[in-house]
Amino acid sequence: MFASRTDWSLTPNRLSKAIEERRRAGLPILDLTESNPTRCAFSFEAEKVLGSLADPRSLTYEPDPKGLLRARQAVAEYYAERGVQVPPERIFLTASTSEAYSFLFRLLVNPGEAVLAPRPSYPLFEFLAGLNDLELLPYSIAYHDGWQFDVQAIAEILRHPPSRVRAIVVVHPNNPTGSFVSREELRLLAACCREHGLALIADEVFADYAFEADARRVVSHADVQDALTFTLSGLSKISALPQMKLAWVAVSGPPELVQPALARLEIIADTYLSVSAPVAHALPAMLETRHSVQPQILERVRSNLAWLDTELSPEVPVTRLRVEGGWYAVLRLPAIESDEDWAVKLLAEDGIFVHPGHFYDFGAEGHLVVSLLPTTEIFRKGISKVLARVRRAG
Ligand SMILES: Cc1ncc(COP(=O)(O)O)c(C=O)c1O
Repeated sequence: MFASRTDWSLTPNRLSKAIEERRRAGLPILDLTESNPTRCAFSFEAEKVLGSLADPRSLTYEPDPKGLLRARQAVAEYYAERGVQVPPERIFLTASTSEAYSFLFRLLVNPGEAVLAPRPSYPLFEFLAGLNDLELLPYSIAYHDGWQFDVQAIAEILRHPPSRVRAIVVVHPNNPTGSFVSREELRLLAACCREHGLALIADEVFADYAFEADARRVVSHADVQDALTFTLSGLSKISALPQMKLAWVAVSGPPELVQPALARLEIIADTYLSVSAPVAHALPAMLETRHSVQPQILERVRSNLAWLDTELSPEVPVTRLRVEGGWYAVLRLPAIESDEDWAVKLLAEDGIFVHPGHFYDFGAEGHLVVSLLPTTEIFRKGISKVLARVRRAG
């Protein structure tokens, strides 16, 4: 009856069973995985956000496959503020970056072909790939006092014929490692893309959340000119408004590739026309609210991180991996138990919910991932219990 691409294992894993049991027993859970910004006690400009949805122009339906021009201009202004020029004609609005990924996979990849994506990274890639009948081939990001990916290893994968790879995904900064792509890495990646006729897909949803400036870093991929490049971002992280469902793709690269890409993408987007008029009209105002919410988020993330560091003494066998930006921290702890065992015990016995590293496909045991968004009170209580458990176990 059902397509094999939906043959997911629907059996709950040990962690989801433990959550279910705790909830059923009415026991509290301190959620250190919370990354929904609308649930983390930030103050949003409610009047501006809600008021922007009441634009009378929304009463008229003016379908445009790329999305409302005024909204695309606001996106172009967002990039211009970073010194990156993206003409509105090269921007497509979508309902989410997930939808943008699907559009791009339909544009670039035939069934059975593959896309290279970082590992560890965002767990949804596996589903987005499966739903679009393509294979996800991981390239590893390794930790040596900071995260780096090995462009030579990517080149090696591509050299093995017959390479079915059609695109390379970079996440800038990556979730959950918080590592950005450097200018040098981009130079090598773009050369790989050119040599093998691949597209580059750059996910920049967390790009505004860098902890410190670093001139070696790529500012944005949206003005890459030497490889066909699709840069993704949206309101869900920039303005911490995931519920508004508005994201975009910016297209750049050699004109002889950009023009056919725009023409084909336009037909894909025209088939769905998925962005609603009220949200498209509201985009300029909603983007502006980033100026009030981003400082709050950065302050929270920095202060949780700083506090975490004060708790990590040589007596506790836990370290925090270096992170350059984003909303997460990765803890390394003794691999005397599997990540899943740590996470299940923390939940069942201490009421603390953390993500085991395998959720993000870390290559080795001994990693837990925590969100830095929870209020300092929840974060401190939760982390104290994590550290107490590891101390007892050690
Ligand atoms: C790397 C990355 N890309 C995209 C998204 C989701 O963005 P959207 O809500 O626009 O689909 C997330 C959400 O956590 C993410 O971590």
